[in-house]
Amino acid sequence: MPAQGLPRELRTTTPHTARMYDYYLGGKDNYPVDREAAEAVRSVLPHIKVTARSTREFMHRATRWFTARGIRQFLDIGTGIPTEPNLHQVAQHEAPEARVVYVDHDPIVLAHVDALLRSTPEGRTEYLHGDVRAPRDIVGSEELTRTLDLSQPVALSMNALFHFVPDEDDPIGIIRELVEPLAPGSYVSLTHVTADFLDPEEAAKAIDVYRKGGIPAQVRDRTEFEALFAGLELVDPGITPTYRWHPDGPPRQDETDATTSMYAGVALKK
Ligand SMILES: C[S@@+](CC[C@H](N)C(=O)[O-])C[C@H]1O[C@@H](n2cnc3c(N)ncnc32)[C@H](O)[C@@H]1O
Repeated sequence: MPAQGLPRELRTTTPHTARMYDYYLGGKDNYPVDREAAEAVRSVLPHIKVTARSTREFMHRATRWFTARGIRQFLDIGTGIPTEPNLHQVAQHEAPEARVVYVDHDPIVLAHVDALLRSTPEGRTEYLHGDVRAPRDIVGSEELTRTLDLSQPVALSMNALFHFVPDEDDPIGIIRELVEPLAPGSYVSLTHVTADFLDPEEAAKAIDVYRKGGIPAQVRDRTEFEALFAGLELVDPGITPTYRWHPDGPPRQDETDATTSMYAGVALKK
Protein backbone atom coordinates (compact mmCIF):
# COMPACT_ATOMS: atom_id res chain seq x y z
CA MET A 1 0.00 0.00 0.00
CA PRO A 2 1.74 3.24 -1.08
CA ALA A 3 2.09 5.75 1.76
CA GLN A 4 0.67 8.56 -0.39
CA GLY A 5 -2.46 6.48 -1.15
CA LEU A 6 -3.63 6.21 2.45
CA PRO A 7 -7.02 7.60 3.40
CA ARG A 8 -6.64 10.83 5.34
CA GLU A 9 -10.16 11.44 6.56
CA LEU A 10 -10.84 11.19 10.27
CA ARG A 11 -13.51 8.54 10.64
CA THR A 12 -15.52 9.05 13.81
CA THR A 13 -18.03 6.27 13.23
CA THR A 14 -15.59 3.42 13.85
CA PRO A 15 -13.06 3.07 16.70
CA HIS A 16 -9.37 3.74 16.01
CA THR A 17 -6.54 2.12 17.96
CA ALA A 18 -4.63 5.40 18.38
CA ARG A 19 -7.68 7.09 19.88
CA MET A 20 -8.57 4.14 22.13
CA TYR A 21 -4.97 4.10 23.40
CA ASP A 22 -5.17 7.87 23.98
CA TYR A 23 -8.27 7.21 26.11
CA TYR A 24 -6.44 4.50 28.12
CA LEU A 25 -3.65 7.02 28.75
CA GLY A 26 -6.11 9.66 29.96
CA GLY A 27 -5.87 11.81 26.80
CA LYS A 28 -8.61 13.92 25.25
CA ASP A 29 -8.11 13.19 21.55
CA ASN A 30 -10.77 10.51 21.24
CA TYR A 31 -14.43 10.28 20.19
CA PRO A 32 -17.51 8.56 21.70
CA VAL A 33 -17.04 5.54 19.42
CA ASP A 34 -13.45 5.11 20.71
CA ARG A 35 -14.47 5.52 24.35
CA GLU A 36 -17.27 2.98 23.94
CA ALA A 37 -14.89 0.39 22.43
CA ALA A 38 -12.20 1.19 25.03
CA GLU A 39 -14.72 0.70 27.87
CA ALA A 40 -15.82 -2.60 26.29
CA VAL A 41 -12.18 -3.73 26.41
CA ARG A 42 -11.87 -2.43 29.99
CA SER A 43 -14.92 -4.42 31.06
CA VAL A 44 -13.01 -7.65 30.27
CA LEU A 45 -9.48 -6.34 30.94
CA PRO A 46 -9.94 -3.97 33.91
CA HIS A 47 -6.21 -3.19 34.00
CA ILE A 48 -5.92 -1.91 30.43
CA LYS A 49 -4.94 1.60 31.62
CA VAL A 50 -2.03 0.10 33.60
CA THR A 51 -1.05 -1.82 30.45
CA ALA A 52 -0.93 1.40 28.42
CA ARG A 53 0.95 3.41 31.07
CA SER A 54 3.58 0.68 31.59
CA THR A 55 4.08 0.38 27.83
CA ARG A 56 4.64 4.11 27.55
CA GLU A 57 7.10 4.02 30.47
CA PHE A 58 9.00 1.18 28.80
CA MET A 59 9.43 3.46 25.75
CA HIS A 60 10.92 6.17 27.99
CA ARG A 61 13.43 3.75 29.54
CA ALA A 62 14.34 2.06 26.26
CA THR A 63 14.94 5.45 24.62
CA ARG A 64 17.26 6.51 27.44
CA TRP A 65 18.99 3.11 27.24
CA PHE A 66 19.62 3.73 23.51
CA THR A 67 20.98 7.25 24.02
CA ALA A 68 23.29 5.93 26.77
CA ARG A 69 24.73 3.57 24.12
CA GLY A 70 25.42 6.41 21.73
CA ILE A 71 22.33 6.07 19.52
CA ARG A 72 21.34 9.43 18.09
CA GLN A 73 18.88 8.36 15.39
CA PHE A 74 15.40 6.95 15.98
CA LEU A 75 12.67 5.57 13.75
CA ASP A 76 9.40 5.18 15.64
CA ILE A 77 6.59 3.40 13.78
CA GLY A 78 3.07 3.31 15.21
CA THR A 79 3.80 6.50 17.12
CA GLY A 80 0.31 7.18 18.41
CA ILE A 81 -1.31 10.46 19.38
CA PRO A 82 1.34 12.69 20.97
CA THR A 83 1.58 12.09 24.73
CA GLU A 84 4.24 13.91 26.71
CA PRO A 85 6.99 13.07 26.95
CA ASN A 86 7.12 11.92 23.34
CA LEU A 87 10.06 9.82 22.19
CA HIS A 88 11.99 12.79 20.76
CA GLN A 89 11.60 14.68 24.05
CA VAL A 90 13.08 11.76 25.98
CA ALA A 91 15.91 11.29 23.46
CA GLN A 92 16.71 15.00 23.08
CA HIS A 93 16.68 15.50 26.86
CA GLU A 94 19.66 13.13 26.94
CA ALA A 95 21.16 14.09 23.56
CA PRO A 96 19.80 17.37 22.09
CA GLU A 97 21.18 16.48 18.65
CA ALA A 98 19.02 13.33 18.40
CA ARG A 99 17.00 12.90 15.20
CA VAL A 100 13.66 11.16 15.15
CA VAL A 101 11.38 10.06 12.30
CA TYR A 102 7.83 9.26 13.38
CA VAL A 103 5.45 7.12 11.31
CA ASP A 104 1.78 6.33 11.80
CA HIS A 105 -1.09 5.49 9.46
CA ASP A 106 -3.85 7.19 11.41
CA PRO A 107 -4.93 10.66 10.23
CA ILE A 108 -5.56 11.66 13.88
CA VAL A 109 -1.80 11.46 14.50
CA LEU A 110 -1.17 13.62 11.44
CA ALA A 111 -3.72 16.10 12.80
CA HIS A 112 -1.62 16.47 15.96
CA VAL A 113 1.74 16.38 14.22
CA ASP A 114 2.86 19.81 15.49
CA ALA A 115 3.64 18.35 18.92
CA LEU A 116 5.94 15.79 17.28
CA LEU A 117 7.74 18.36 15.17
CA ARG A 118 8.85 20.61 18.05
CA SER A 119 12.49 19.55 17.99
CA THR A 120 15.48 21.03 19.72
CA PRO A 121 17.42 23.35 17.36
CA GLU A 122 20.37 20.91 17.41
CA GLY A 123 18.24 17.88 16.57
CA ARG A 124 15.47 17.18 14.12
CA THR A 125 12.10 15.47 13.98
CA GLU A 126 10.13 14.44 10.92
CA TYR A 127 6.76 12.79 10.38
CA LEU A 128 5.70 10.34 7.71
CA HIS A 129 2.07 9.37 7.20
CA GLY A 130 2.73 5.71 6.38
CA ASP A 131 1.74 2.13 6.96
CA VAL A 132 4.12 -0.42 8.50
CA ARG A 133 2.71 -3.03 6.09
CA ALA A 134 4.49 -1.11 3.31
CA PRO A 135 7.99 -1.18 4.87
CA ARG A 136 9.88 -0.22 1.71
CA ASP A 137 7.82 2.95 1.38
CA ILE A 138 8.97 3.88 4.87
CA VAL A 139 12.68 3.16 4.59
CA GLY A 140 12.83 4.64 1.08
CA SER A 141 10.79 7.75 1.92
CA GLU A 142 12.19 11.22 1.45
CA GLU A 143 11.15 12.09 5.01
CA LEU A 144 13.38 9.32 6.34
CA THR A 145 16.35 9.64 4.02
CA ARG A 146 16.64 13.40 4.50
CA THR A 147 16.56 13.01 8.30
CA LEU A 148 18.47 9.81 9.14
CA ASP A 149 21.90 8.70 7.94
CA LEU A 150 21.42 4.97 7.39
CA SER A 151 25.18 4.36 7.40
CA GLN A 152 24.96 5.04 11.17
CA PRO A 153 23.00 2.99 13.77
CA VAL A 154 19.31 3.66 14.30
CA ALA A 155 16.95 2.56 17.07
CA LEU A 156 13.83 1.26 15.36
CA SER A 157 11.04 1.36 17.89
CA MET A 158 7.62 -0.19 17.26
CA ASN A 159 5.67 -0.16 20.46
CA ALA A 160 2.22 -1.67 20.90
CA LEU A 161 2.02 -2.00 17.10
CA PHE A 162 2.42 -5.58 15.93
CA HIS A 163 -0.68 -6.92 17.71
CA PHE A 164 -2.43 -4.93 14.93
CA VAL A 165 -0.45 -6.80 12.26
CA PRO A 166 -1.84 -10.35 12.02
CA ASP A 167 0.17 -13.29 10.68
CA GLU A 168 -1.41 -13.03 7.21
CA ASP A 169 0.38 -9.66 6.82
CA ASP A 170 3.74 -11.38 7.48
CA PRO A 171 5.03 -9.35 10.44
CA ILE A 172 8.38 -11.20 10.42
CA GLY A 173 8.90 -10.28 6.75
CA ILE A 174 7.90 -6.66 7.47
CA ILE A 175 10.47 -6.36 10.26
CA ARG A 176 13.13 -8.01 8.08
CA GLU A 177 12.55 -5.39 5.36
CA LEU A 178 12.67 -2.53 7.84
CA VAL A 179 15.91 -3.79 9.41
CA GLU A 180 17.66 -4.71 6.17
CA PRO A 181 18.89 -1.18 5.28
CA LEU A 182 19.91 -0.32 8.87
CA ALA A 183 23.59 -0.20 9.83
CA PRO A 184 25.10 -2.87 12.11
CA GLY A 185 24.83 -1.62 15.69
CA SER A 186 21.18 -0.66 15.14
CA TYR A 187 18.55 -1.82 17.60
CA VAL A 188 14.95 -2.98 17.31
CA SER A 189 12.61 -2.37 20.21
CA LEU A 190 9.17 -4.01 20.34
CA THR A 191 6.27 -4.25 22.76
CA HIS A 192 3.31 -6.54 22.13
CA VAL A 193 0.10 -7.55 23.90
CA THR A 194 0.12 -11.11 25.19
CA ALA A 195 -2.56 -13.33 26.71
CA ASP A 196 0.08 -15.46 28.48
CA PHE A 197 -0.93 -14.05 31.88
CA LEU A 198 -4.66 -13.69 31.20
CA ASP A 199 -7.74 -15.83 31.22
CA PRO A 200 -7.87 -16.92 27.54
CA GLU A 201 -11.62 -16.28 27.34
CA GLU A 202 -11.25 -12.70 28.55
CA ALA A 203 -8.38 -12.06 26.14
CA ALA A 204 -10.50 -13.44 23.29
CA LYS A 205 -13.38 -11.12 24.25
CA ALA A 206 -11.04 -8.09 24.19
CA ILE A 207 -9.67 -9.07 20.78
CA ASP A 208 -13.23 -9.43 19.59
CA VAL A 209 -13.99 -5.80 20.49
CA TYR A 210 -11.17 -4.66 18.17
CA ARG A 211 -12.14 -7.02 15.35
CA LYS A 212 -15.82 -6.01 15.53
CA GLY A 213 -14.61 -2.40 15.20
CA GLY A 214 -12.85 -3.36 11.96
CA ILE A 215 -9.37 -3.41 13.57
CA PRO A 216 -7.22 -6.47 12.80
CA ALA A 217 -5.82 -7.70 16.12
CA GLN A 218 -3.89 -10.72 17.33
CA VAL A 219 -2.26 -11.51 20.67
CA ARG A 220 1.00 -13.46 20.59
CA ASP A 221 2.55 -15.74 23.16
CA ARG A 222 6.17 -15.50 24.21
CA THR A 223 7.45 -17.81 21.45
CA GLU A 224 5.48 -15.96 18.77
CA PHE A 225 6.72 -12.61 20.07
CA GLU A 226 10.33 -13.81 20.15
CA ALA A 227 9.99 -14.95 16.51
CA LEU A 228 9.54 -11.29 15.48
CA PHE A 229 13.22 -10.73 16.37
CA ALA A 230 14.41 -13.26 13.77
CA GLY A 231 18.04 -12.64 12.70
CA LEU A 232 18.65 -10.22 15.60
CA GLU A 233 20.33 -10.72 18.97
CA LEU A 234 18.14 -10.03 21.99
CA VAL A 235 19.93 -7.92 24.59
CA ASP A 236 19.79 -8.50 28.33
CA PRO A 237 17.34 -9.23 30.01
CA GLY A 238 15.69 -10.79 26.93
CA ILE A 239 11.92 -10.82 26.71
CA THR A 240 10.08 -9.60 29.79
CA PRO A 241 6.78 -7.93 30.62
CA THR A 242 7.26 -4.21 29.92
CA TYR A 243 7.59 -3.10 33.55
CA ARG A 244 10.42 -5.59 34.19
CA TRP A 245 12.67 -4.42 31.34
CA HIS A 246 15.50 -2.43 32.99
CA PRO A 247 13.18 -0.92 35.63
CA ASP A 248 14.15 2.38 37.25
CA GLY A 249 13.00 1.08 40.63
CA PRO A 250 10.56 -1.34 42.23
CA PRO A 251 7.30 -1.99 40.33
CA ARG A 252 4.37 0.33 40.96
CA GLN A 253 1.76 -1.22 43.26
CA ASP A 254 -0.61 -1.98 40.38
CA GLU A 255 2.03 -3.52 38.09
CA THR A 256 2.08 -7.31 37.69
CA ASP A 257 2.59 -9.59 34.69
CA ALA A 258 -1.22 -9.86 34.39
CA THR A 259 -2.03 -6.14 34.74
CA THR A 260 0.61 -5.16 32.19
CA SER A 261 0.08 -8.11 29.79
CA MET A 262 2.54 -6.67 27.29
CA TYR A 263 5.89 -8.20 26.36
CA ALA A 264 8.93 -6.04 25.67
CA GLY A 265 12.21 -6.86 23.98
CA VAL A 266 15.18 -5.07 22.48
CA ALA A 267 17.52 -6.68 19.97
CA LEU A 268 20.76 -5.73 18.26
CA LYS A 269 21.53 -5.96 14.55
CA LYS A 270 25.07 -7.34 14.36
C1 LIG B 1 -1.53 1.31 20.82
S1 LIG B 1 -0.90 2.66 19.86
C2 LIG B 1 0.79 2.73 20.40
C3 LIG B 1 1.38 4.14 20.42
C4 LIG B 1 2.84 4.23 20.86
N1 LIG B 1 3.72 3.46 20.01
C5 LIG B 1 3.03 3.78 22.29
O1 LIG B 1 3.42 2.63 22.53
O2 LIG B 1 2.78 4.57 23.20
C6 LIG B 1 -0.71 1.88 18.25
C7 LIG B 1 -0.43 2.85 17.14
O3 LIG B 1 -0.07 2.10 15.98
C8 LIG B 1 -0.70 2.70 14.86
N2 LIG B 1 -0.86 1.67 13.82
C9 LIG B 1 -1.66 0.58 13.83
N3 LIG B 1 -1.53 -0.12 12.69
C10 LIG B 1 -0.60 0.55 11.94
C11 LIG B 1 -0.03 0.33 10.65
N4 LIG B 1 -0.41 -0.71 9.91
N5 LIG B 1 0.89 1.21 10.21
C12 LIG B 1 1.26 2.28 10.96
N6 LIG B 1 0.76 2.55 12.18
C13 LIG B 1 -0.17 1.70 12.66
C14 LIG B 1 -2.03 3.21 15.36
O4 LIG B 1 -2.56 4.22 14.53
C15 LIG B 1 -1.63 3.72 16.75
O5 LIG B 1 -1.25 5.06 16.69
